[in-house]
Amino acid sequence: MDTVVSGIRPTGELHLGNYFGAIKNFIKLQETHKCFFFIADVHSLTTHLKNEKLYENTLKIVATYLACGLDYNKVAIYRQSDVPEIFELYTYLNMLAYKGELERCVTFKEKAKKQPDNINAGLLTYPVLMTADIIIHKANKVPVGKDQEQHLEMARNFVSRFNRIFNIDFFPLPHPYSFDDDLIKIPALDGTGKMGKSENNAIYLTDDVNIIQKKVLKAVTDSGPTEPFQSMSEPIKNLFTFLKIFASENDYNYFLNEYNSCKIKYSELKYFLAEKINNFVQPIREKIFEFFENKNFLEKILNEGKEKARSSAIKTLLEVKKIIGFKI
Ligand code: TRP
Repeated sequence: MDTVVSGIRPTGELHLGNYFGAIKNFIKLQETHKCFFFIADVHSLTTHLKNEKLYENTLKIVATYLACGLDYNKVAIYRQSDVPEIFELYTYLNMLAYKGELERCVTFKEKAKKQPDNINAGLLTYPVLMTADIIIHKANKVPVGKDQEQHLEMARNFVSRFNRIFNIDFFPLPHPYSFDDDLIKIPALDGTGKMGKSENNAIYLTDDVNIIQKKVLKAVTDSGPTEPFQSMSEPIKNLFTFLKIFASENDYNYFLNEYNSCKIKYSELKYFLAEKINNFVQPIREKIFEFFENKNFLEKILNEGKEKARSSAIKTLLEVKKIIGFKI
């Protein structure tokens, strides 16, 4: 059975982009793969070492994963910081990761620009820790977005270097697991790119009906079509993408006809969309709050996840120490 690892930094609420970009696919993967889905709380320290919300944000992700349908009997949901074996492996991997290649990493360069007063060693070795996260379970598939592909390429370099140095075919090469056709890209509401936290255009899975309506009503539009079958501007295309995801085909066709015959009222479309999006978010939102109230239960899930992750990690680390030549 293939093994899958994916991590998410606990930076706050999760949004519809997270749901359709990752979580929805995790729910499918849990049926067919050995899955390790963890919260990369240590990675998050590379940008915010002091963070009062670290624990709360970690629990929020667990609550959200469960609310969306991840089954803790099928997958391991755990905190990176609960698995010390990851950090020991990270130390060994640091001896074969070179300064030059780490400095060339695009995300490192971007972060260094963003936080010039805090270009810490953890930031530089971020891809090394990420490699340890993955190979501690000897995983071969990593479901991540495009922005993480360079990290995975680096992980493959470190892994093949390890295997070459010790002349052993021990770690499998981790490849990005792409969902291809399955991947629904949630657009931004401000008319550009995809939905993301940083752009401040996201609908969160915890947003209530009023907030959702406010956000959707604020979505960028244009001045409307002036001739039949006029091609759509980017922001209008985005609204239709939302319709495709959250409304029925009939409703989609109704608004498309309205557009093509220049009768469309964008406000009608937006009110309609807001309602449909809320219908989708509401049951998830309610479950998130329910789980979040029950901290003991979330702790229990994290504990079980920790046990599963550690039992896999301990095995790998023991092998690694033997390969390196420690007397075990
Ligand atoms: N770097 C990833 C991100 O920012 C998070 C992450 C950490 C991760 N370790 C990982 C993802 C291991 C996949 C596998 O999104």
